[in-house]
Amino acid sequence: MISCPTVKKSEIRFHYDLSTAFYRLLWGPHIHHGLWSGAESSDVAQRQLIDAVALRAGICGGENVLDVGCGMGGSSVYLARKYGCQVTGVTLSPVQRCWAQAGALVRGAGRRTKFLRGDAETLELPPQSFDVVWSIECTEHLFDKPAFFRRAVKWLKPGGRLTICAWLAGNEPLDAAACKRVFDVCEGFLCPSLGSRADYEQWFTDAGLQMQSFDDWTERVAQTWEICRRRVQKTGVRVLSRMIHSGTTLFLDRFDAILDAYRTRSMLYGCFSARLPENPA
Ligand SMILES: C[S@@+](CC[C@H](N)C(=O)[O-])C[C@H]1O[C@@H](n2cnc3c(N)ncnc32)[C@H](O)[C@@H]1O
Repeated sequence: MISCPTVKKSEIRFHYDLSTAFYRLLWGPHIHHGLWSGAESSDVAQRQLIDAVALRAGICGGENVLDVGCGMGGSSVYLARKYGCQVTGVTLSPVQRCWAQAGALVRGAGRRTKFLRGDAETLELPPQSFDVVWSIECTEHLFDKPAFFRRAVKWLKPGGRLTICAWLAGNEPLDAAACKRVFDVCEGFLCPSLGSRADYEQWFTDAGLQMQSFDDWTERVAQTWEICRRRVQKTGVRVLSRMIHSGTTLFLDRFDAILDAYRTRSMLYGCFSARLPENPA
């Protein structure tokens, strides 16, 4: 695991409060990578990622899903509309919660979705209430990742699934240059740490879950950042960010760092799915 001790939770919340409108303008309602098979548009690639994750999560229709780190509610609304799921989304950002709620109403998913402002590291939810606990690109921001896995397991019904997409530190051993690349990503994107595939698998199994699948999608998602870089260059977003907040400028300046980290496999992009046994120990 590579850590960046300077990241603070208040900064993560501030970043999403401030930047959600920019994400919406530059990338759309989903704050996650696209998953490409060919020359699809970025919108199609983003939906392809959700469908691929839904497949790994065993979603067939009508499941009760907890979307941890739900952003603008993009995945929650998609799961409610396409798969008829009942979704509870949780985000650290009050701005995102309002955005998600309004977006769900506009898209006719108000009855099938509910959005909470909360911290996944302290949130209290009824035990055994979800068929699927789902998280796309949020665990990077958590400070005590093993503790989160232990909490998430309690929210799952027996036989339920925990399915997570995450930015990963590359497989160990990493040389000094690789560690520096991962550190630069953590600093720019406000990740207190990035775990490796082995770290995540350990956290899943220590929490009592059985691993079902792991997909390394690094090569299929990386062009996300080339597209974002082009869009930032074409618009005045960088100039605007310099006037508003230096942390956002650092974020925009680290797009090259993430591309470099993926290219060298210092960093990977993975999707994990694991199942809670019907009779957990
Ligand atoms: C990269 S965005 C992903 C958003 C969403 N999953 C999507 O794919 O569109 C990360 C999300 O994690 C949320 N987040 C970060 N730390 C969190 C925490 N401790 N508890 C709850 N949400 C958190 C942020 O507010 C943001 O919504």
